[in-house]
Amino acid sequence: MKAAARRAAAAPQLGTPLAVPVRASVRHLAPYVAPEEGREGKLRLDFNENTVGCSPAVLRALRRMTSEQLAIYPEYEAATRRIARHFGVRPTELLFSNGVDDALRLIMDTFVESGNTVLIPEPTFSMYRFFAEIAGARVESVPYEGSVRFPMEGILRALALEPRVLCLANPNNPTGTLLDRAALRRILDAAPRTLVLVDEAYFEFSGVTALPWIRQRANLVVSRTLSKAAGLAALRLGVLFAREDIADALRRACTPYPVSNAALVAAEAALADRGFLRRYVREVLASREHLARGLEKLGVRVFPSSANFLLADFGPGGSELVRRLARRGILLRDRAGEFGRDGFVRITAGTRVQTRRLLRAIEEER
Ligand SMILES: Cc1ncc(COP(=O)(O)O)c(C=O)c1O
Repeated sequence: MKAAARRAAAAPQLGTPLAVPVRASVRHLAPYVAPEEGREGKLRLDFNENTVGCSPAVLRALRRMTSEQLAIYPEYEAATRRIARHFGVRPTELLFSNGVDDALRLIMDTFVESGNTVLIPEPTFSMYRFFAEIAGARVESVPYEGSVRFPMEGILRALALEPRVLCLANPNNPTGTLLDRAALRRILDAAPRTLVLVDEAYFEFSGVTALPWIRQRANLVVSRTLSKAAGLAALRLGVLFAREDIADALRRACTPYPVSNAALVAAEAALADRGFLRRYVREVLASREHLARGLEKLGVRVFPSSANFLLADFGPGGSELVRRLARRGILLRDRAGEFGRDGFVRITAGTRVQTRRLLRAIEEER
């Protein structure tokens, strides 16, 4: 059975009252539709993961783990110190989370009261809205201009009303758009009473970061993940950075053991293998350009991207193409729903060999 169908079958109808009432914000939530399972072995260009797997150094480090290390609750101090050094911050300015997903929940739990406003541009990473709604926030959404241009003026206007939190993915998913440092500064300056999350899940591919500013900014949280370039999506490791007072507040609302020992062992090994990361990022950037040019040659509109994926507009028939490619074992992400019409597809850039395989398949199926 498909994942979504399985969930629907397992979940009681929320329309019919349970013996114990469900929180109103959850009752009205549009549930997240999990990806199809059985993606292993396919060409996975649908979730912006690393498409070749993590550094071999990660597997070696995991194999060296002892049963005692698995038996004891995680201890974070030494790993925090080393990982903080890697990122050039103090250990007190950093927190781990079970993926950035869970960091979002933590941010809402810490800063958002029911009825507060959470501001987001849309389309963007769907989990911002999801966790804001669970927290009972009012989500104010400013649409991207022409679907793909960041709505700077609209965001600045909305900030004047002092929303509690603003979530920005930089680069943004699914548009691939990037705010440069000047634009980020403008937003932070306009948000003295708003916590601004700059989610740098794709930082390795864009090179633009707000991380050096955390110490001067009383309203900034930066997030990174090991799920994308580093290839550790299965282990779930997010890292949050903020000024000490903000980090302290977040720590109060955090579970005592948010991440596993295995995730930390893997993360340290992944971060230490800078050569692997550098080579993978270089390959993906070359592949992304190859993909853009190849699609343009096929008459497909592509949007400039600073991440490891591209947004493409195939026009009518885009959704059908995604289905046909899936039957051939090539997975892309149909974004028609988000943009309100058929055609928009998000495509992860893997290696150049993978991109060539994709382009050949598109040519044959269109
Ligand atoms: C912008 C953005 N942030 C966060 C995530 C999720 O990160 P994690 O795997 O660390 O939960 C994604 C995944 O697609 C993303 O696109």
